[in-house]
Parts: sequence; C-alpha cells; structure tokens
Amino acid sequence: MRVYLDNAATTPLDKEVLETMMIQLRDNYGNPSSIHADGRRARAVVEQARKSVANYFNSSVGEIFFTSGGTESNNMAIKGAIRDLGVKRIITSPIEHHCVIHTVEVLEKRNEIQLDYVKIDERGRIDFEHLEDLLKASAEKTLVSLMHANNEVGNLLDLPRTSALCKEHNALFHCDTVQSIGKFPLDLDVLSIDFLSGSAHKFHGPKGTGFIYINSDNAIKPLLDGGAQERNMRAGTENIAGIAGLAKALELAKENMTERREQIESVRAYLIDELTKNFKDITFNGDYDGEYLYTVLSISVPANSKTDLLVLSLDISGISASGGSACSSGVEKGSHVIGVLQNGSEDLKTVRFSFSHHNTKEEIDFLIEKLKGILPLKG
Ligand SMILES: Cc1ncc(COP(=O)(O)O)c(C=O)c1O
Repeated sequence: MRVYLDNAATTPLDKEVLETMMIQLRDNYGNPSSIHADGRRARAVVEQARKSVANYFNSSVGEIFFTSGGTESNNMAIKGAIRDLGVKRIITSPIEHHCVIHTVEVLEKRNEIQLDYVKIDERGRIDFEHLEDLLKASAEKTLVSLMHANNEVGNLLDLPRTSALCKEHNALFHCDTVQSIGKFPLDLDVLSIDFLSGSAHKFHGPKGTGFIYINSDNAIKPLLDGGAQERNMRAGTENIAGIAGLAKALELAKENMTERREQIESVRAYLIDELTKNFKDITFNGDYDGEYLYTVLSISVPANSKTDLLVLSLDISGISASGGSACSSGVEKGSHVIGVLQNGSEDLKTVRFSFSHHNTKEEIDFLIEKLKGILPLKG
C-alpha cells in the first residue's frame, strides 16, 4: 500500500483534467496568436478558460492573466507594484512562502524597498494591532503581502479584516492564495484585493500553469517582455493544454467543494483523534483547531534517534509526507515556518500531513500502525 499525504506539495491530476488536456495536446495545436482557424480555435480555449477562472472569483475576465504558476504570479505582483505603482514599503510575515520572502529580501537588499515584518503569535496568527501600527507608521506607498492559507501549518488569514485594514490605510494588498484556491469560495466583488495568485497543481490541475488576478485599478507592466500574449501582460506562447487543464480543475474543485471538504475534514479529524489517543507528547502546529486550511495538519514530536528520520521512515513504510516544504533541490530542509514558530529549537521534529479528497480513514489506520513503530506510545 502507498499512501499519499503530501497534497500541499502537489496534488494528483484529476482524471477529467487529464482527458481535457489530452484533447488539447492532440487536436488543438494552433498558436493562439495566429489569425487562421487553427489559431482561433486555440485562442478560444484560452479565453474560455479565462472566463471560467474569472467566474470562480466573480472578477472581470480582463483581470485574469495566465502564468507558469504561483512563484511567477507572486513575483509579478510584488515587482510590478514596486516598479509601476510607486510602492516603497512592503509589509509581510516571516512565515510566507519562500517565493515571497526571498523576493522581498532581494528587493530590500537592493534598497528598492523598506521591509517590515508583522508580528505573529505562538500559533503563527497575524497580530492585527501590529499590522495596523505598521500601516499607520509611514506615509510611504505600501504593499501588504500576506498569504491566505499557510502551506506548512495551514493557518488561514482573516481576509475581510486584512483587506479592510489595507483599504483604510490606502495600502495595496497582495494575497498568495495558492493553497486556498479551490478549497474556499473567494468573491473579489466583496473583498478588496489588489493581486492574488493561483497554481493549478495545488488543486488537481497540471504543474507549471497558474494565474494572477490583477485588480483593474493597478496598471502594472509585464515581468517578461517579448510578445503581446496575455493582452501584453505576459510574453510567450500560451500553454494551451495547461490552461485548459487549470480551468477544468478549478471548475471541478468549485462544483465538488462541499463534498470534497466533508471528506477531507473527516479524515483530518480522524487523524487528530488517532494521534491524540495513541501517542505521547504530540504537538499540533499552527491554528489547527481555529482558523485552518482543512487540507493540512502539521505535528511535532520530541526529537530522538527514531524521530530524527521520521519522514524517511514513513517513506520506507509506504507513506509520502513532508518535513519542511517540498524544496527545489529535492533535499528535505528544516522549515523556516516551523523554525520561526518554535523559535529555532531543535528539540522537536515536525511532519506535515496534507490531504485531498482521495484520502480515506483506512489510509489513516495504515499511517497510525506505521507510526506505532516510530513514536512513543501512550501508557
Ligand atoms: C503558498 C504557496 N505559494 C506559492 C507556491 C509556489 O507555487 P508554484 O509551485 O506554482 O510556483 C507554493 C507551492 O509550494 C505555495 O504553497
């Protein structure tokens, strides 16, 4: 038996998504920039996909641009806001994804921005009073970049509160929504968000395809130059199959959101119960029983010779989970998020289980049996 519990790193492709993509790969080979019939057929697929994504957010079609994924979209928002919208200061948190943290750190080093980190509490929740103090502290044009759902501990940001605060203080708001898209509805007609990012492979779509929402009030220039694709916002021939797959995956996520959520919540709650019942000294990380992303559960256990190689031991036992975030080198690194939350302590080992609607309670039973050979049992 092989159990996949690393859905925050990436998700398996939905069967219908694969079918949609295969049709495009096989039959729709035109270049959407060509004006002949084959080109127009490809263009129609891209524009239909754009409509479908805009429909998910209740945004206008002209505010959605396809990209290569979350990393590109986040870079595009942050760098565009600085270059084209007069942003001189960024407020973010120490537990953002590296594609935000590393980007803003580089910009600070180059003296392009002033960088401020908002305080978080012991669960990793944003300190809104501090955020407000930071917003009040400077008259410089500010971009607040805070993620909706944390990929490592699953904390959820209070979006209405954050967006209202940014609006009140005339700051732009960029939200990395890569982990939450497809799992919660998001109405951009109600919420005031300037930029948000999405990545298909986190909601059962293909890797290497994503999008950015740019509120039409924010006229930024492209990150990549060299072509007029994506209405001059992103040069390069479009990934038709990827874009069609993204739209299909998002449609399926929207259509099945309630049933998928119920399934995942029940598996997650069962895992929490079983862990609590069977093992000593388990800590659940983040706001796991407060405002949480239901696809993620992060736990820590005391470090010892058995738990030191926890993720590897689970892998050998047939379970894919993650210690830090999936790292581009393929090497499991200590997570900066857990590092911040545990104040750099090395006394604990952390593992993140992340779920999809394909996971079952039988799989959790299998996991618990394997963990019984690794973790200290309750008396
Ligand atoms: C919160 C978050 N933001 C951004 C990314 C990057 O997305 P992509 O893999 O599409 O570049 C990830 C992926 O791990 C993520 O979890």
